[in-house]
Amino acid sequence: MRVPIAIVLLALAYPAYAQDSALETWRRIHEVFSHARCTNCHVGSDNRPMWSEPGRMLPRPHGMNVNAGESRIGAETLPCGTCHGKSNAQIPHGPPGAEVWLLPPANMHWFGKTSAEICAQIKDPNRTRGRGIDAIADHVRDDKLVHWGWTPGPGRAPAPYSAEQLASLLRQWQKEGAPCPNE
Ligand code: HEC
Ligand code: HEC
Repeated sequence: MRVPIAIVLLALAYPAYAQDSALETWRRIHEVFSHARCTNCHVGSDNRPMWSEPGRMLPRPHGMNVNAGESRIGAETLPCGTCHGKSNAQIPHGPPGAEVWLLPPANMHWFGKTSAEICAQIKDPNRTRGRGIDAIADHVRDDKLVHWGWTPGPGRAPAPYSAEQLASLLRQWQKEGAPCPNE
């Protein structure tokens, strides 16, 4: 039986194609994770949230010397809730808000990290409170702070896609074998 050459080539190319498309899925997930609306809270053990100038991607440490402390909620000095209420201030440069307002644990650090580093972290249960990728997708779908990234208040650019889309990208990436980029 003669197999058309095009089909042979397609079969040979398929693993590479599948890998490329899975990495493309990750690229879109990372587009959200690395957006200012997400990284400004996902900071490291210096416990300092970041600010981005509205309309510019240049981040700087949160004004007024705010430091979240080890509690990650500012309990040691000035609690986040002193200024951040349950909803966004409706004036430009007013403090945004949600039901709770605090930083994630320092080992969920994304700010300034490479795509490969964030990818490795998200797959390491020691750094995700034991969550697998499906549980991370559920968190994205359900969590109020994650949702804030798409409703950030006046003057702030929302994260790309939507919470639902990000959750389904994560599930798709998991099905595709969840590969990480090299850098
Ligand atoms: C106001 C601060 C804040 C913002 C803004 C924020 N997060 Fe988070 N994030 C948190 C906190 C707090 C946790 C820890 C919650 C937990 O583990 O239950 C967290 C945890 C997560 C986790 C779980 C990570 C893991 O390793 O288990 C994901 C995923 C996540 N956030 C996604 C996002 C995305 C996507 C955005 C932007 C659209 C975002 N977050 C914006 C505070 C924030
Ligand atoms: C003294 C008041 C005050 C305190 C306390 C405070 N913030 Fe803020 N925060 C603000 C104001 C005002 C803004 C809005 C700044 C702007 O848009 O120009 C803001 C904005 C933010 C943003 C959004 C930045 C962005 O560009 O997406 C994050 C994240 C943030 N604060 C985290 C925190 C955390 C975490 C704490 C507690 C450790 C905290 N803040 C404590 C006043 C405060």
